[in-house]
Amino acid sequence: MERNNGMSGNGNNRNEAIHVLTPLTRDLAPEVHRIAGEAPPLDVYPLHVYAIILRDFGRTCMAAVAVAETAGFVTGYLAGDRSDRYFLWQIGVGMAFRRRGIGGLLLASTLSLAREAGAREIFATVDPENEPSLLLFSRQGFKPRPGLFGDPVVDGGGLPLAGNHYRTGNNQVIMHRPLP
Ligand SMILES: CC(C)(COP(=O)(O)OP(=O)(O)OC[C@H]1O[C@@H](n2cnc3c(N)ncnc32)[C@H](O)[C@@H]1OP(=O)(O)O)[C@@H](O)C(=O)NCCC(=O)NCCS
Repeated sequence: MERNNGMSGNGNNRNEAIHVLTPLTRDLAPEVHRIAGEAPPLDVYPLHVYAIILRDFGRTCMAAVAVAETAGFVTGYLAGDRSDRYFLWQIGVGMAFRRRGIGGLLLASTLSLAREAGAREIFATVDPENEPSLLLFSRQGFKPRPGLFGDPVVDGGGLPLAGNHYRTGNNQVIMHRPLP
Protein backbone atom coordinates (compact mmCIF):
# COMPACT_ATOMS: atom_id res chain seq x y z
CA MET A 1 0.00 0.00 0.00
CA GLU A 2 1.23 3.49 -0.76
CA ARG A 3 0.16 6.44 1.31
CA ASN A 4 0.87 10.14 1.76
CA ASN A 5 2.75 10.22 -1.50
CA GLY A 6 3.31 13.12 -3.81
CA MET A 7 6.50 14.72 -2.60
CA SER A 8 9.12 15.78 -5.12
CA GLY A 9 12.81 15.64 -4.47
CA ASN A 10 15.02 18.52 -5.46
CA GLY A 11 18.62 17.96 -4.39
CA ASN A 12 21.78 16.03 -5.13
CA ASN A 13 20.94 15.90 -8.87
CA ARG A 14 17.99 13.66 -8.03
CA ASN A 15 14.49 14.53 -9.04
CA GLU A 16 12.51 11.45 -8.13
CA ALA A 17 9.08 11.61 -6.59
CA ILE A 18 9.22 10.21 -3.07
CA HIS A 19 6.53 7.82 -1.89
CA VAL A 20 5.90 6.50 1.57
CA LEU A 21 5.36 2.76 1.61
CA THR A 22 3.78 0.67 4.33
CA PRO A 23 3.50 -2.12 5.41
CA LEU A 24 7.01 -3.38 4.83
CA THR A 25 7.77 -6.99 4.02
CA ARG A 26 10.87 -9.07 4.71
CA ASP A 27 11.99 -8.47 1.11
CA LEU A 28 12.97 -4.96 2.13
CA ALA A 29 15.19 -6.08 5.03
CA PRO A 30 18.43 -5.77 2.97
CA GLU A 31 17.49 -2.20 1.94
CA VAL A 32 16.68 -1.20 5.51
CA HIS A 33 19.90 -2.82 6.72
CA ARG A 34 21.90 -0.97 4.02
CA ILE A 35 20.47 2.44 4.95
CA ALA A 36 21.03 1.81 8.66
CA GLY A 37 24.68 1.22 7.73
CA GLU A 38 24.76 4.67 6.09
CA ALA A 39 23.14 6.37 9.04
CA PRO A 40 25.38 6.57 12.09
CA PRO A 41 24.83 6.89 15.00
CA LEU A 42 22.15 4.25 14.41
CA ASP A 43 23.16 0.85 15.70
CA VAL A 44 23.37 -1.53 12.74
CA TYR A 45 21.87 -4.87 13.65
CA PRO A 46 22.53 -8.08 11.74
CA LEU A 47 20.38 -8.46 8.63
CA HIS A 48 18.22 -11.13 10.21
CA VAL A 49 17.15 -8.74 12.99
CA TYR A 50 15.62 -6.43 10.37
CA ALA A 51 13.99 -9.44 8.71
CA ILE A 52 12.45 -10.40 12.07
CA ILE A 53 11.24 -6.85 12.73
CA LEU A 54 9.68 -6.61 9.26
CA ARG A 55 8.17 -10.10 9.53
CA ASP A 56 6.54 -9.39 12.88
CA PHE A 57 6.02 -5.62 12.88
CA GLY A 58 5.95 -4.70 9.17
CA ARG A 59 2.46 -3.26 9.59
CA THR A 60 3.87 -0.46 11.75
CA CYS A 61 7.04 0.18 9.71
CA MET A 62 7.50 2.29 6.63
CA ALA A 63 9.96 3.25 3.95
CA ALA A 64 10.44 6.33 1.84
CA VAL A 65 10.88 5.14 -1.72
CA ALA A 66 12.28 7.06 -4.65
CA VAL A 67 11.35 5.80 -8.10
CA ALA A 68 13.91 3.03 -8.14
CA GLU A 69 15.53 3.17 -4.75
CA THR A 70 14.68 3.03 -1.07
CA ALA A 71 15.62 6.43 0.36
CA GLY A 72 14.84 5.99 4.05
CA PHE A 73 12.95 3.95 6.57
CA VAL A 74 11.21 3.87 9.92
CA THR A 75 10.91 0.77 12.05
CA GLY A 76 8.65 0.72 15.07
CA TYR A 77 5.91 -1.14 16.82
CA LEU A 78 3.13 -0.92 19.36
CA ALA A 79 4.68 -1.72 22.72
CA GLY A 80 3.67 -5.23 23.76
CA ASP A 81 2.13 -4.37 27.11
CA ARG A 82 0.95 -0.89 26.03
CA SER A 83 -0.89 -1.15 22.74
CA ASP A 84 -1.67 2.58 22.95
CA ARG A 85 2.05 3.45 22.87
CA TYR A 86 4.15 3.33 19.67
CA PHE A 87 7.91 2.94 19.94
CA LEU A 88 9.79 4.39 16.97
CA TRP A 89 12.78 2.08 16.99
CA GLN A 90 14.91 3.49 14.15
CA ILE A 91 14.57 6.21 11.52
CA GLY A 92 17.25 6.63 8.89
CA VAL A 93 17.67 8.40 5.55
CA GLY A 94 20.35 7.39 3.04
CA MET A 95 23.23 9.83 2.69
CA ALA A 96 22.32 10.89 -0.86
CA PHE A 97 18.80 11.81 0.21
CA ARG A 98 19.50 13.86 3.34
CA ARG A 99 18.12 17.37 4.00
CA ARG A 100 15.33 17.09 1.48
CA GLY A 101 12.48 16.70 3.92
CA ILE A 102 12.35 12.90 3.70
CA GLY A 103 13.00 12.33 7.41
CA GLY A 104 10.28 14.87 8.19
CA LEU A 105 7.90 13.17 5.77
CA LEU A 106 8.61 9.76 7.29
CA LEU A 107 8.10 11.06 10.82
CA ALA A 108 4.85 12.86 9.98
CA SER A 109 3.59 9.72 8.23
CA THR A 110 4.59 7.62 11.23
CA LEU A 111 2.42 9.81 13.48
CA SER A 112 -0.57 9.00 11.24
CA LEU A 113 0.34 5.32 10.99
CA ALA A 114 0.73 4.96 14.76
CA ARG A 115 -2.54 6.80 15.42
CA GLU A 116 -4.38 4.59 12.95
CA ALA A 117 -2.84 1.51 14.60
CA GLY A 118 -4.40 2.60 17.90
CA ALA A 119 -1.54 4.44 19.61
CA ARG A 120 -2.29 7.52 21.68
CA GLU A 121 1.34 8.38 22.30
CA ILE A 122 4.67 7.87 20.56
CA PHE A 123 8.25 7.91 21.73
CA ALA A 124 11.82 7.37 20.55
CA THR A 125 15.13 7.28 22.37
CA VAL A 126 17.79 9.62 20.98
CA ASP A 127 21.47 10.02 21.77
CA PRO A 128 21.91 13.45 23.41
CA GLU A 129 24.72 14.26 20.93
CA ASN A 130 22.45 13.65 17.93
CA GLU A 131 21.43 17.23 17.22
CA PRO A 132 19.83 16.57 13.78
CA SER A 133 17.60 13.89 15.24
CA LEU A 134 16.64 15.98 18.29
CA LEU A 135 15.67 18.84 15.93
CA LEU A 136 13.75 16.49 13.65
CA PHE A 137 11.65 15.23 16.55
CA SER A 138 11.18 18.55 18.33
CA ARG A 139 9.98 20.23 15.13
CA GLN A 140 7.11 17.73 15.12
CA GLY A 141 6.01 18.34 18.69
CA PHE A 142 8.11 15.80 20.58
CA LYS A 143 9.42 16.81 23.99
CA PRO A 144 11.88 15.13 26.38
CA ARG A 145 10.13 12.87 28.93
CA PRO A 146 13.08 11.45 30.90
CA GLY A 147 10.84 9.96 33.60
CA LEU A 148 8.68 7.88 31.24
CA PHE A 149 10.23 4.60 32.38
CA GLY A 150 11.21 5.62 35.89
CA ASP A 151 14.91 6.17 35.12
CA PRO A 152 16.84 8.66 37.23
CA VAL A 153 16.72 12.08 35.56
CA VAL A 154 20.17 13.40 34.65
CA ASP A 155 20.93 16.98 33.59
CA GLY A 156 22.50 16.98 30.13
CA GLY A 157 23.41 20.67 29.99
CA GLY A 158 19.81 21.81 30.20
CA LEU A 159 18.46 18.74 28.41
CA PRO A 160 16.79 16.29 30.83
CA LEU A 161 18.08 12.77 30.17
CA ALA A 162 16.97 9.30 31.21
CA GLY A 163 19.97 7.97 33.13
CA ASN A 164 21.51 4.71 31.85
CA HIS A 165 18.25 3.83 30.09
CA TYR A 166 19.63 0.91 28.07
CA ARG A 167 22.05 -0.20 30.81
CA THR A 168 24.95 0.68 28.50
CA GLY A 169 26.21 3.49 30.70
CA ASN A 170 24.92 6.10 28.24
CA ASN A 171 22.07 8.46 28.99
CA GLN A 172 19.24 8.88 26.49
CA VAL A 173 16.80 11.57 25.51
CA ILE A 174 13.33 10.06 25.53
CA MET A 175 11.48 12.12 22.93
CA HIS A 176 7.74 11.76 23.40
CA ARG A 177 4.50 13.25 22.19
CA PRO A 178 0.84 12.49 22.60
CA LEU A 179 -1.20 11.48 19.54
CA PRO A 180 -4.50 13.30 19.97
C1 LIG B 1 17.94 12.39 11.34
C2 LIG B 1 17.68 12.05 9.86
C3 LIG B 1 16.69 10.87 9.81
C4 LIG B 1 17.02 13.29 9.21
O1 LIG B 1 16.66 12.94 7.88
P1 LIG B 1 16.53 14.06 6.74
O2 LIG B 1 15.73 13.47 5.64
O3 LIG B 1 17.87 14.58 6.40
O4 LIG B 1 15.70 15.20 7.51
P2 LIG B 1 14.81 16.37 6.88
O5 LIG B 1 15.43 16.91 5.63
O6 LIG B 1 13.40 15.92 6.78
O7 LIG B 1 14.93 17.48 8.02
C5 LIG B 1 13.90 17.67 9.01
C6 LIG B 1 14.46 18.52 10.13
O8 LIG B 1 15.45 17.77 10.86
C7 LIG B 1 16.49 18.65 11.31
N1 LIG B 1 17.75 18.23 10.67
C8 LIG B 1 17.93 17.20 9.81
N2 LIG B 1 19.23 17.08 9.49
C9 LIG B 1 19.89 18.05 10.16
C10 LIG B 1 21.26 18.42 10.27
N3 LIG B 1 22.24 17.78 9.61
N4 LIG B 1 21.59 19.45 11.08
C11 LIG B 1 20.64 20.12 11.76
N5 LIG B 1 19.30 19.81 11.70
C12 LIG B 1 18.94 18.79 10.91
C13 LIG B 1 16.09 20.03 10.86
O9 LIG B 1 15.34 20.63 11.91
C14 LIG B 1 15.21 19.75 9.66
O10 LIG B 1 14.29 20.75 9.40
P3 LIG B 1 14.75 22.01 8.46
O11 LIG B 1 15.46 21.44 7.28
O12 LIG B 1 13.45 22.66 8.15
O13 LIG B 1 15.66 22.83 9.31
C15 LIG B 1 18.98 11.73 9.09
O14 LIG B 1 19.92 12.78 9.32
C16 LIG B 1 19.63 10.42 9.48
O15 LIG B 1 19.32 9.37 8.92
N6 LIG B 1 20.55 10.47 10.47
C17 LIG B 1 21.28 9.28 10.93
C18 LIG B 1 20.36 8.33 11.66
C19 LIG B 1 19.78 8.95 12.92
O16 LIG B 1 20.43 9.70 13.63
N7 LIG B 1 18.50 8.59 13.17
C20 LIG B 1 17.80 9.06 14.35
C21 LIG B 1 18.16 8.21 15.51
S1 LIG B 1 16.99 8.42 16.80
